[in-house]
Amino acid sequence: MSIHKEQVKSALAHVIHPEFNKDLITLGLIQDLITQDKFVSFTLELPEKNDQLAERLKKECAEAIRKYVDAEAVLDVTIGINISKQRELGNSGQQEPQQQTRQEPVLGGVKNVIAVASGKGGVGKSTVAANLAVALAQTGAKVGLLDTDIYGPSVPTMFGVTERPNITTQKKLVPIKKHGVHLVSMGFLVDTDQAMIWRGPMVTSAVKQFMQEVEWGELDYMILDLPPGTGDIQLTIVQTVPLTGAVIVSTPQTVALDDARKGVAMFNKVNVPVLGIIENMAYFVPDDMPEKKYYIFGKHGARKLAQKLEVPFLGEIPLREIIRETSDSGTPIVAADPASPSSIGLKEIANRIQQSLAIRISELDQTEKVEIKIRP
Ligand SMILES: Nc1ncnc2c1ncn2[C@@H]1O[C@H](COP(=O)(O)OP(=O)(O)OP(=O)(O)O)[C@@H](O)[C@H]1O
Ligand SMILES: [Mg+2]
Repeated sequence: MSIHKEQVKSALAHVIHPEFNKDLITLGLIQDLITQDKFVSFTLELPEKNDQLAERLKKECAEAIRKYVDAEAVLDVTIGINISKQRELGNSGQQEPQQQTRQEPVLGGVKNVIAVASGKGGVGKSTVAANLAVALAQTGAKVGLLDTDIYGPSVPTMFGVTERPNITTQKKLVPIKKHGVHLVSMGFLVDTDQAMIWRGPMVTSAVKQFMQEVEWGELDYMILDLPPGTGDIQLTIVQTVPLTGAVIVSTPQTVALDDARKGVAMFNKVNVPVLGIIENMAYFVPDDMPEKKYYIFGKHGARKLAQKLEVPFLGEIPLREIIRETSDSGTPIVAADPASPSSIGLKEIANRIQQSLAIRISELDQTEKVEIKIRP
């Protein structure tokens, strides 16, 4: 039987760091975990150089894996020194584990920030983000949607927003509420023709402002619609915003999957948990023959990629004229026709994201900025 990452994490949750008096998973000291058959590899990241402690913990990790997972496990443990951990954890051992802060609001009154991303453009990120936001709001949650795509904002069209947002006396922007979702889009304020010439730093400082200078109030979920790609702009946005998790949207064909893989890698790099992959335009359903399914972009591509990358598969969305029409006319399908099969599928995906979040919250540490590690 092959060893799975989750089994290794459960085993390592038994190994206690003597100074902080907490286990290695809670402290976020296990990085780059890879498993294959009986092979397990990871980096044990310590806040400071201490060879004796490193050897002791390494031995205890091996014992825990052999005891709780597989007696024949083959281990490759690298010791890494991450100085930023020292700052985070302090030397007193008094600090609460990072994961507990995740249950608290990550930004003012916002409890969870979820990025919707893709490697490739035009795969349906904004459509998915809009419908997920509405679906989550329909469960009774308080939901915000922040459209960070300054070059091609979609929220104004997809939610039919033509008005300008109000500003409070404290000079904070008030989101516009439509279909139960609190909306802010670059497109509300910025002339997109003008924005075309914006450079990376301007974009990220605008995103920062939209996180901080908006009267978001109490939110259970803030959905972030990211611009396409995995370049500098996306990387900076995901490092600027305290993300709880990310969702990757892909269509089934190889060119989109290659880019989706880059998307997953980008979030892994900045330690943001990938909550799962969604397959959009999974198959075409003609309106006059709704029982038919045409796999025009190939079958189950994103589903297979999720299995390969060991991230949850959150579900598939068909390619349907009504999904495009409802988006273009300002009412996402989940609001326009909540009982349609596509809406039911989208609501199931929203539900899986909520579940995936609950699981991740209990096992993953908080997003960190990328640090340069010094390896002894
Ligand atoms: N499942 C679907 N069925 C039909 N049309 C869809 C579907 N998903 C998206 N579309 C349509 O495809 C077009 C692109 O979708 P969308 O704008 O959501 O993609 P995107 O990934 O956000 O694009 P960008 O990379 O430019 O931000 C839109 O016209 C949208 O209505
Ligand atoms: Mg978009």
